[in-house]
Amino acid sequence: MAVSVARMGVLLGLFVGIAMVGFVSSAKFDELFQPSWAFDHFMYEGELLKLKLDNFSGAGFQSKSKYLFGKVTVQIKLVEGDSAGTVTAFYMSSDGPTHNEFDFEFLGNTTGEPYLVQTNVYVNGVGNREQRLNLWFDPTKEFHSYSIMWNQRQVVFLVDETPIRVHTNLEHKGIPFPKDQAMGVYSSIWNADDWATQGGLVKTDWTHAPFIASYRGFEIDACECPVPVASADNVKKCSSSAERRFWWDEPTMSELSVHQSHQLLWVRANHMVYDYCSDNSRFPVTPVECEHHRHQ
Ligand SMILES: *[C@@H]1O[C@H](CO)[C@@H](O)[C@H](O)[C@H]1NC(C)=O
Repeated sequence: MAVSVARMGVLLGLFVGIAMVGFVSSAKFDELFQPSWAFDHFMYEGELLKLKLDNFSGAGFQSKSKYLFGKVTVQIKLVEGDSAGTVTAFYMSSDGPTHNEFDFEFLGNTTGEPYLVQTNVYVNGVGNREQRLNLWFDPTKEFHSYSIMWNQRQVVFLVDETPIRVHTNLEHKGIPFPKDQAMGVYSSIWNADDWATQGGLVKTDWTHAPFIASYRGFEIDACECPVPVASADNVKKCSSSAERRFWWDEPTMSELSVHQSHQLLWVRANHMVYDYCSDNSRFPVTPVECEHHRHQ
C-alpha cells in the first residue's frame, strides 16, 4: 500500500512536470516568433501550433529577433498521409542581396512514400549546395527535433541531435563563411508541386487539403541582435571575449565529436540520396568546399 501511494506520488509529479514543460513551450512561440503571413492559416492547440496549406494559401512564421551564432530547434510533425507537392521549410536567413541562409526543406510525397529532407547553405547570396536525404523514421507519425547549430567554425544541421550535415569554415582556403550577418529564424508551408515531389511529376491533390504541419518545442539559444544595430557591432557583441565566453565558442563546439562524426558517416552512407558535391553534370568542376567534405 505504502509503495503504491509513493508510486502514485511519483506519477503525479511526472504529470505535473509534463504539464509544466507543455506550458513553457507554448509560451515560447509567442515569446520568440510571430506569424508572418496568412494568420488565418494558424491553429493554436495548447502547446501545439499547426500551419495549414489549402488551395487558398500556405502560411509562415518568423522570429521576432535576429541572431548571430547559437542553436535553434523546433519539433515538427510533418503532413500526414498524402503530402505530395507540399514543402515545409525551417530555416535561418539574413536579409539583402548578399544574404546567408541555412535551410531545412521537407519535400512531401504520396501516401506511404518517404519524405525527403533537402538542406542548403547560401553564402553571400549564392546557394546551389543542396543535399537530400530520407530519414530513418517516418517524420509524419511523431514529433522530431530539427536544429541548426552555428558558430564561427561550422554550421551543423541536426535531426534528433544526430548531425546530418556540416558546413565547415574554410576561410583559410579563401572560401567565404557566413559569420557576420545576423539571421532570423523562419518556417513555412507552401505548394511547390512544380518541383518538390519526384521532380515535379506528382502534383498536389487538393482533394486531400488541408495539409497540416504541427510544431512544438521552440527553442532559441543564441546571441540576440537588435535589428537596427550595425553588423560589426553585432559581431563584436556575439563573439567571446575576456569578459564573456559563449557556449558555442567552446573548443568542443568547433568541430563534431568523434561520436557525431560517426553518426554523420552513418547518415551519409545509409540515407543520403543526393549531394551537390557528387553532381558532376551540374558541377563539371567540383565546388571547392567539397574536397574538404570528403575528408570529414
Ligand atoms: C517520393 O517517393 C519516391 C518513390 O519512393 C521517391 O523516389 C522520392 O525520392 C520520394 N520523395 C520525393 C520528394 O519525391
